[in-house]
Amino acid sequence: MTGRIAGLGSYLPKRIVTNDDLAAIVETSDEWIQERTGIAQRHISDPLVEKPSYMAGIAAQRALEDAGIDGSEIDLIVVSCTTPDKVIPTMACCVQEAVGADGCGCFDINSACPGWLAAYNTAQSFIESGNCSKALVVGVECLSNFVDWEDRGTCILFGDGAGAAVLVADESASKNRFIMHATYNKAECLTAEARMQPKRWEEEGFLKSTMFQMNGRDVFRFAVTEVPKIITELSEKYSFDLNDIDLFILHQANARIIETIAKRLGQDISKFPMTVYDTGNTSTASIPSLMDRLKKEGKLVKGQKIVLSSFGGGLTWAANYIEY
Ligand SMILES: CC(C)(COP(=O)(O)OP(=O)(O)OC[C@H]1O[C@@H](n2cnc3c(N)ncnc32)[C@H](O)[C@@H]1OP(=O)(O)O)[C@@H](O)C(=O)NCCC(=O)NCCS
Repeated sequence: MTGRIAGLGSYLPKRIVTNDDLAAIVETSDEWIQERTGIAQRHISDPLVEKPSYMAGIAAQRALEDAGIDGSEIDLIVVSCTTPDKVIPTMACCVQEAVGADGCGCFDINSACPGWLAAYNTAQSFIESGNCSKALVVGVECLSNFVDWEDRGTCILFGDGAGAAVLVADESASKNRFIMHATYNKAECLTAEARMQPKRWEEEGFLKSTMFQMNGRDVFRFAVTEVPKIITELSEKYSFDLNDIDLFILHQANARIIETIAKRLGQDISKFPMTVYDTGNTSTASIPSLMDRLKKEGKLVKGQKIVLSSFGGGLTWAANYIEY
């Protein structure tokens, strides 16, 4: 048994922040941001209402609706989140309440942007080992709470949102095929210290260090080097031809990164759908919400061969091959 993706859902906050809005608070311009990143706008949550637990709950409800499954049938919820509004109960427990899945197993995973793939692979392993038959896999992020709004190098990149998938054990689904990597080399190019550290608030610079610190050039280099490599490694490990892939659904961090990866893989850019232009980088939510959008647009259809790949802090990166 392997999990078939039976439903998809997503949530984007109501408030849209354009590049011109950002140009009013930091020295930047719409032209600079669009040229370097492809991002035109991002959705920023209402901090009092659209908390990660709320966004995750709605994305999960929508995924269940899409699958035609009641929350009470779910026996596992895994949520990937780096920016939760609560540490206890976990985001997964909050989703459990939102969908009425009382009694099922629940836990969170934090693996930065590739976290949703880590959550997906974990849920698939539960299904393949016979430990569950219907799972909800959610990715949610409220990066606006962690961005330094005075740093033009990072605040232009990120947005908030959530995406979710329902996996249903199915004998006819092909085995889950994936690779995950991490390295401590260059870990310092993408960091955010935990805020709850005793006595650290008195240290000079501590508050800033709890916001995203990034060396953009190093992250860019890491992504365009490692993502083509892991996708090639995946194709060799599982013996498939990259030319047969219908869609490469990549982490939506930057259009230039995606274009460079497409070129390095020798693949046409039309196989690399993007939402980064209107969502910005929503970290772990980016892949499931892009899949949800593609499905609604009729571009994600049964039988397609798909590569998923993501990269982020850690440094971490991962890739999956799925037959949808
Ligand atoms: C962040 C990023 C867009 C910066 O683009 P870049 O071409 O590398 O730009 P640099 O950082 O080299 O900066 C070039 C110049 O633009 C300036 N600059 C940086 N941000 C700017 C902004 N928002 N608006 C205008 N100018 C900006 C810099 O200060 C620098 O000026 P200088 O030459 O006078 O020092 C790019 O490195 C990137 O996208 N990296 C990957 C980041 C990412 O995806 N992170 C998340 C991974 S999950």
